[in-house]
Amino acid sequence: MATFISNSPAETEAIGRRFAEDVDTGSILALKGDLGSGKTMFVKGIVAGLGSRAEVTSPTFTILHEYRAGRSPVYHFDFFRLEDRQSVARLDLDDYLFGDGVSVIEWADRFPEFIPQHARWILFEVKSENQRAITFQGTTDKERRLPSRRGKRDGWETVTP
Ligand SMILES: Nc1ncnc2c1ncn2[C@@H]1O[C@H](COP(=O)(O)OP(=O)(O)O)[C@@H](O)[C@H]1O
Ligand SMILES: [Mg+2]
Repeated sequence: MATFISNSPAETEAIGRRFAEDVDTGSILALKGDLGSGKTMFVKGIVAGLGSRAEVTSPTFTILHEYRAGRSPVYHFDFFRLEDRQSVARLDLDDYLFGDGVSVIEWADRFPEFIPQHARWILFEVKSENQRAITFQGTTDKERRLPSRRGKRDGWETVTP
């Protein structure tokens, strides 16, 4: 588990962009955190990092946005407005989650039973007006091989290793 502190929206986007470098097709990112905690900002970074210049907006009302340009399609979900399990079931979520792209789900914790086991959970916390803590659950093999996950590295600050 690693927590990064972001001090601006641009830093959150940069963390997403950087994270996208190691994201493989088929990855599922399950985002959890209050309104305004930076989830959509992070997704902007992910989409840009995967090589798409698409404008990323919150799919709060449409539930799903697809970005097809770039290294891999991105399926960007927002579960905030989904009322019940039936509405989630109607999305045919598995076609996306087990499809040919990277899936990112805001408010994934509203219906965790629909999130596959191999998803990477990422927690967003509001620390102050401009500060957010972003915690990545688990550690990938690639990250374990990094020389050091402590201290500042390219503007990333690891708070808890
Ligand atoms: N460090 C930060 N990281 C991300 N957003 C921040 C940060 N500081 C302030 N903000 C503001 O918080 C809001 C985050 O919005 P958004 O990414 O849409 O959140 P969410 O999708 O979690 O509801 C934006 O208005 C942004 O300007
Ligand atoms: Mg959002």
